[in-house]
Amino acid sequence: MELLSVTEAGEYWDARHRREGELRSGGDVSFDEPTNEMFYVRRLALLLDLIGEHGDPVAPLFVLDAGCGKGWFSRALVRFGHQVDGIDASPAAVALCRAAGGGPRYHESPLSGWRSPWLYDVVVCIDVLFHVLDDGEWEASLRNLASLVRLGGRLIVSDHGEPGDRIHGNYQVTRGPDRYAALLAPMGLRADGWHPYRFRGSLVGFHAFTRIG
Ligand SMILES: C[S@@+](CC[C@H](N)C(=O)[O-])C[C@H]1O[C@@H](n2cnc3c(N)ncnc32)[C@H](O)[C@@H]1O
Repeated sequence: MELLSVTEAGEYWDARHRREGELRSGGDVSFDEPTNEMFYVRRLALLLDLIGEHGDPVAPLFVLDAGCGKGWFSRALVRFGHQVDGIDASPAAVALCRAAGGGPRYHESPLSGWRSPWLYDVVVCIDVLFHVLDDGEWEASLRNLASLVRLGGRLIVSDHGEPGDRIHGNYQVTRGPDRYAALLAPMGLRADGWHPYRFRGSLVGFHAFTRIG
């Protein structure tokens, strides 16, 4: 099956965000909303394991939610006391995020194009990179996200844990852990393991990295 072009993928996400409810929109379209809610809660708990239970109104964590979709994770992280920038390439998603409010600052931007005046304590990218179909754009995206993490900060990105690249349908390309490590190690990011979602047979998990140099 032929992969979607960049334009087609953009149209796909815009239409999906307009059509689907709060959770199926950026979650798993094969799940109903209650199952997606469990899926979101499960991943949020896993995320907390990885970013820690830091909560300090005077010194919040600066978090980038890269590919924030309708903003579920961004809003949750703001409720925990963090300062959150949410970015997404879909104008429909960003408009819906802004309408929902809740505290995050939202920007329409591709992962590869986001420039920030500050570095982040934590950059999360949840179920987005395997939708970046073009390899060059995937590499530019991952490099840019990594460059936005402060020394000692964390980069958390999701993908499959199996080695090798795989194409699933026309809008998903999963890439193996070695691809992430090979690109990020020379940038000073230490790999801290792959943490599977363990939800309904999902093959996806969070790759966690810490900037050490
Ligand atoms: C499966 S959804 C996940 C959304 C959100 N992270 C969540 O878990 O609810 C994938 C999102 O990635 C966005 N996206 C895809 N390619 C992107 C790119 N190159 N730059 C920024 N966002 C992108 C889509 O618009 C969509 O909102």
